Amino acid sequence: KTISLIGAPTDVGASVRGAGMGPDALRVAGLNEALTARGLKVIDHGNLHGPANPWEQPVNGLRHLKEAIDWNQAVYDAVDQALRDGHMPMMLGGDHCLAIGSISAVAAHCRRVGKKLRVLWFDAHADSNLSTISPTGNIHGMPVACLMGHGPKELINYAGHTPAIQATDIRLIGIRSVDDGERRFIHEMGMQVFDMRYIDEYGMRNVMSSALANLDSNTHLHVSFDLDCLDPGIAPGVGTAVLGGPSYREAQLCMEMVADTGLMASLDVVELNPALDIRNQTAVLAVDLIESLFGKSTLVRM
Ligand code: ARG
Ligand code: MN
Ligand code: MN
Ligand code: MN
Repeated sequence: KTISLIGAPTDVGASVRGAGMGPDALRVAGLNEALTARGLKVIDHGNLHGPANPWEQPVNGLRHLKEAIDWNQAVYDAVDQALRDGHMPMMLGGDHCLAIGSISAVAAHCRRVGKKLRVLWFDAHADSNLSTISPTGNIHGMPVACLMGHGPKELINYAGHTPAIQATDIRLIGIRSVDDGERRFIHEMGMQVFDMRYIDEYGMRNVMSSALANLDSNTHLHVSFDLDCLDPGIAPGVGTAVLGGPSYREAQLCMEMVADTGLMASLDVVELNPALDIRNQTAVLAVDLIESLFGKSTLVRM
């Protein structure tokens, strides 16, 4: 298996600066070496180029729309190319708006090769805002809605196919901060959301078996990993931290259960903000969890 590392140093989707340094912080934390040690072939394509952060106020409920469109076009093209080359794309973010381009490309690939798509969206937030309901206008709070066809036309049609995904294709896990409008949107769309209350009551093992139910060998599993999903006590280096996320052990179990499926075929690692981190600990933790995602375990398991 060959992994294409693609850095997307954007923070145009956020209102806290710094996520643009995320890709290099992951490299400094030894991402490439950790994957190589797992026997994977790694090609680091370096960082994509995109517009700088103009640091403007939202216009019609959207902040930096033009910049977000340009970044996502670059992400779309890079992920599309990696998939056509038969590689596994790993997006290094960058703020979570980049998942619009990345998952649009993955969904187009699935339509092209006749695969089913399952997206696991690990996040403290639901990222299901629309320009009309978002309290901030930040586009990193909107990718799920955009992927389901609700958003500015330029952001929802990278693959020439709208919507990119259906509500039944995605599972949201770790959620604990949902805005009022998002709550209604989630309900209307009928997405499966495993919020922290659900994780507390049923336990991470049951949550993950539900989120991974009904997969088969023809499923393309995409993981969109917003590092603010993790409890900020272990992952302080994020721009929009929310108390009460999964612990280190719960996060490890998530990753290991994904690895056990053997179906993960693309990955986003997003929202790492080195400007807010402590001695790169969140990047180091991310690399540790990514190792588990690629099958690192304590013992040989049958
Ligand atoms: N719901 C909030 C908003 O729309 C926060 C979104 C945070 N998203 C993220 N990818 N960190 O602004
Ligand atoms: Mn370059
Ligand atoms: Mn988030
Ligand atoms: Mn997010």
